[in-house]
Amino acid sequence: MNEQTWTEVDRYLESKLIPHDPALDAAIAESRAAGLPEIAVSPIEGNRLALLARIRGARRILEIGTLGGYSAIWLAQALPVGGELITLEIDPKHAAVAQRNIDRAGVTDKVKIIVGPALESLARLAGAGIEPFDFFFVDADKKEGPAYLEWAIKLSRPGAVVVVDNVIRDGDVIDEQSDHPSVKGVRALFDLISQHPRVEATAIQTVGQRGYDGILIAHIT
Ligand code: SAH
Ligand code: DHB
Ligand code: MG
Repeated sequence: MNEQTWTEVDRYLESKLIPHDPALDAAIAESRAAGLPEIAVSPIEGNRLALLARIRGARRILEIGTLGGYSAIWLAQALPVGGELITLEIDPKHAAVAQRNIDRAGVTDKVKIIVGPALESLARLAGAGIEPFDFFFVDADKKEGPAYLEWAIKLSRPGAVVVVDNVIRDGDVIDEQSDHPSVKGVRALFDLISQHPRVEATAIQTVGQRGYDGILIAHIT
């Protein structure tokens, strides 16, 4: 089994599980045309996120790391009428591309992009007494994994679900000697979870068009 098979299986799963959505395709095409890094979740990963949010019955979602808005569109489509997604992005150029993609997808009313370093935006949201969220997608700078989880706990009520992207990283997660900030951040996140009284979690190793990686799914108790 190899990456080509994983990609072909992704195509098969998409053909069976995902209705065709031109706005999602356009979001990827426009992000590429604008020169954004090609690191959005894959279609089947977007579908998985949206399904998790629906299973949770999420009405208020917080995303950290917008890029071109691809995962945001998936998550916004999972929201019920009156639901809201707030997504945090440091790069104004990414945010501008995302806003266009979100508008094209017809979910403008459900999505608010906040531009700036996520840790600052999170502190501001908390200071403003924002209504708690019930679903989080953490997909920004990996070195801040533990800080983002702490914020998710502060900005949620018991029962919230936190999904974190890129927690396996081609297996690099088991390299205790790594001085890569992303690997250190992911390992620190697992350390935090392993001793946190209010977090129960699982992780899923994944293969597909994006290679070998994985997601963390945490439940705030
Ligand atoms: N969730 C997106 C992909 C996000 S890629 C999708 O699947 O479609 C990671 C994004 O996080 C990039 O756009 C990057 O600019 C942003 N980012 C990195 N560091 C950040 C920070 N400190 N605060 C907010 N956003 C950050
Ligand atoms: C990178 C970031 C991601 O969020 C991802 O899913 C894949 C790659 C990166 O920074 O290389
Ligand atoms: Mg990611």
